Amino acid sequence: MSGQINKEQTRFVRERYNRISRLYNVLEWPMEIAFYRRWRRKLFARLQGRRVLEIGIGTGKNLPFYRGRTLKAVGLDFSEGMLYHALPRARELGILLVQGDAQLLPFKDHQFDTVLATFVFCSVPDPVLGLSEIRRVLKPEGRLLLLEHVLPENRFLAEWFNRLNAYTVRRIGVNINRTTAQNIRRAGFDILEEHNLLSTIFKLFVAHPQ
Ligand SMILES: C[S@@+](CC[C@H](N)C(=O)[O-])C[C@H]1O[C@@H](n2cnc3c(N)ncnc32)[C@H](O)[C@@H]1O
Repeated sequence: MSGQINKEQTRFVRERYNRISRLYNVLEWPMEIAFYRRWRRKLFARLQGRRVLEIGIGTGKNLPFYRGRTLKAVGLDFSEGMLYHALPRARELGILLVQGDAQLLPFKDHQFDTVLATFVFCSVPDPVLGLSEIRRVLKPEGRLLLLEHVLPENRFLAEWFNRLNAYTVRRIGVNINRTTAQNIRRAGFDILEEHNLLSTIFKLFVAHPQ
């Protein structure tokens, strides 16, 4: 992991999101109501500065949390299908949408005060490369905010997640065994906060460049 972009896997994941984009909000609805909405609020409470980049904005599930803030925000995603659904609300809020790959961000160095992503780095083929790109575009005093599902700390569960991972990657392009805390550090960040949200499966991270 980390180095060159795996173009084949990246294309596979993008096509997969394009395919499910119409159904995405419906499929996610139970988790959204039960957990995600609350966790998104917690993440947005940690947002700082005016220049904000959201990676993997998808259909725009976070957009309601931008309302009422004075921001210059950009949302990036590589799936045109997902972006299509985010477009009306993003336009209304004055948020610019950009189609691009998290592993090769189309932005100059040190542009953003906060970069955030929710449930994205499980499907970025090279998460360390993506996180390193975030580090590059963040201002030195900037913040990274992440909500992610990760490899659980429980050994029995971790064993199962590791066994099932090859299947989930092959079928849907999603990794269920990412060691995200390690990846964040490998990309050159210090972790300021790490909150367990659902056992140790879902986590909220706040990090800043070393
Ligand atoms: C599980 S969805 C999450 C969407 C949204 N963040 C949310 O919280 O509902 C993952 C999103 O990340 C995007 N994504 C995955 N890998 C990406 C990459 N390498 N570059 C840009 N976007 C990516 C997908 O297209 C998809 O919209």
